[in-house]
Amino acid sequence: MKILGIETSCDETAAAVVEDGAKILSNAVVSQIDIFAEYGGVIPEVAARSHLEVMMPVVEKAMKDANCTWNDIDAIAVTHAPGLLGSLLIGTLTARTLAILHDKPLYAVHHLKSHIYANWLVGMEAATCSAEHKDLARAARSVSEGHAAASVPTFPVLALVISGGHTQILYMPSHDKFEIIGTTRDDAIGECFDKVAKILGLPYPGGPSIAKAAKEGDENKYKFPHPKIDGLDFSFSGLKTAVLRAVQKELNLPISHPSHDLKNYLTKKQVNDFAASFQKTAVDILLEKLSTAKQQHPDVKSIVFAGGVSANEALREKAEGYFPQKSLSGDNGAMVAAAAYYEIQAGKKPTDPYKMNIYPRISINA
Ligand SMILES: Nc1ncnc2c1ncn2[C@@H]1O[C@H](COP(=O)(O)OP(=O)(O)OP(=O)(O)O)[C@@H](O)[C@H]1O
Ligand SMILES: [Mg+2]
Repeated sequence: MKILGIETSCDETAAAVVEDGAKILSNAVVSQIDIFAEYGGVIPEVAARSHLEVMMPVVEKAMKDANCTWNDIDAIAVTHAPGLLGSLLIGTLTARTLAILHDKPLYAVHHLKSHIYANWLVGMEAATCSAEHKDLARAARSVSEGHAAASVPTFPVLALVISGGHTQILYMPSHDKFEIIGTTRDDAIGECFDKVAKILGLPYPGGPSIAKAAKEGDENKYKFPHPKIDGLDFSFSGLKTAVLRAVQKELNLPISHPSHDLKNYLTKKQVNDFAASFQKTAVDILLEKLSTAKQQHPDVKSIVFAGGVSANEALREKAEGYFPQKSLSGDNGAMVAAAAYYEIQAGKKPTDPYKMNIYPRISINA
């Protein structure tokens, strides 16, 4: 079954064709990072306008790269929630129009399911980075023997979703069943990376910039407290403030000194050390909670990491579990198609293209 997946929930315009929820036939992504680097963050109206400009060329590229005509496509899947309202509208209106034009069943997919299902993608673009096996063998196998032979997570699964807008631990007893067992009470982990990067004067998006600076830094130079929250919930706003206060203290500046000005006083070494120390703390907080979740769910057979922050090298080195290939950690259409495939297998019915709605804020279980 070949599914065209369309993704526009934030600032990536993406489309891909995936066969049987696993084999990537094409994966076209246009990122708006260059536009938003100038502003230090996403401007929703600009994002929607940019999606509009490149949406159809991206779909056409995905179809061409996959060597597909519309006759070859069995279904269209699109992100309908959660995300930026204007961005979701462009993707869903495109998918709805294409479904009507080409008479294809249309499936609405939750963005976090897509991030999780990036771990089931193999073939051309995937499966190079499973920390559980730490084996490029998985990739080699999947390329040489076809995707059927590749290693995939075994249920029950624990999924750690770590992205720009979410930080959640989910228990998955089987395909397309999700129980949220932990969530952030304030900032998401990706948001925390982005905000700390701003304090340090590192470019947007903050995650990759912090990871790069951290490579040159001493991760033990500064100590930051771990939040004291019982159970499996997270909190990251305190960590962000702890970094801010530590930078002000290091520079002998008062706590009233504006955060956006601190970068002008920091040396490169201080930036690198702060980046490394922050990253170590953030990764350790994630892995501590995951370890508690594992203890509470001894039946779990696989751990999967999902979302943009799962590209982080320091996390990949320390963690045991499945990771999507780095290029599939961020937003893409292939993961939308993969998630839709498993939903269809679980009995999901198509959505009427004349009635499909978008939900900027909605839980994975809604
Ligand atoms: N190597 C990295 N290390 C840490 N964080 C990273 C890395 N690469 C990307 N990120 C972070 O990942 C986030 C983007 O991930 P993603 O695209 O999944 O988020 P989103 O789609 O905006 O949000 P959501 O998926 O919650 O709707 C950003 O916060 C970015 O800084
Ligand atoms: Mg995302």
